[in-house]
Amino acid sequence: MTARIPEFPVDEQFTARWSPRSFAADTLSAEQLNSLFEAARWAPSASNTQPWRFAYALRGDAHWAGFVDCLVPANARWAQNAAALIVVLSKTHAPKKDSTELAPLKNHALDTGAAWANLYTQAHTLGLVTHAMGGYDDAKVRTLLNVPDHYAVQAVVAVGRQGPREALPEDLQGREQPSGRNPVSAFTGHGRLNWD
Ligand SMILES: Cc1cc2nc3c(=O)[nH]c(=O)nc-3n(C[C@H](O)[C@H](O)[C@H](O)COP(=O)(O)O)c2cc1C
Repeated sequence: MTARIPEFPVDEQFTARWSPRSFAADTLSAEQLNSLFEAARWAPSASNTQPWRFAYALRGDAHWAGFVDCLVPANARWAQNAAALIVVLSKTHAPKKDSTELAPLKNHALDTGAAWANLYTQAHTLGLVTHAMGGYDDAKVRTLLNVPDHYAVQAVVAVGRQGPREALPEDLQGREQPSGRNPVSAFTGHGRLNWD
């Protein structure tokens, strides 16, 4: 198992959270789900535009198969066992003041990332795990959810309680561990940056 030793003092939640692929058979309650969305709700955003959107399906419900089908097979094989799949979307454009003309919301991705960070932090607090996926078919998601042009699909997130590593297919078991990170010096700079 990769040791996650912080270089500087930091709350334990930041190094304890990671993205497993094994999920327990538990379902997610409405209370848990709403708690995740409530956390996302309080994220900061440019001019308080709150451009994040979350569409979800719960394992076994009428929407589940459609959500799973949007994932690339390499993700679907494990994510189909999650308790919930949440599609994270952002509003990229909004009408200008007193006009129907659309103007870009230039911070939509940053703001939606902040909302997703609140969501996974709250999940961790509740003893749940999350695993974001960029491996999905954008066109399938757009068709399934009837996504308008002024929204972007950002990710699909698997949520649930963590299951045992042994429950995974053998080839995934070796990857079922926390990953490391670049040192702080690699992505920060005082007055300048060293570009890679
Ligand atoms: C936007 C985004 C897309 C990702 N796409 C995938 C994916 O398609 N499949 C996958 O198994 N993991 C995916 N991940 C998980 C990352 O690989 C993982 O977060 C990263 O390696 C750091 O590991 P950790 O979350 O366990 O700390 C994605 C994560 C993010 C934030």
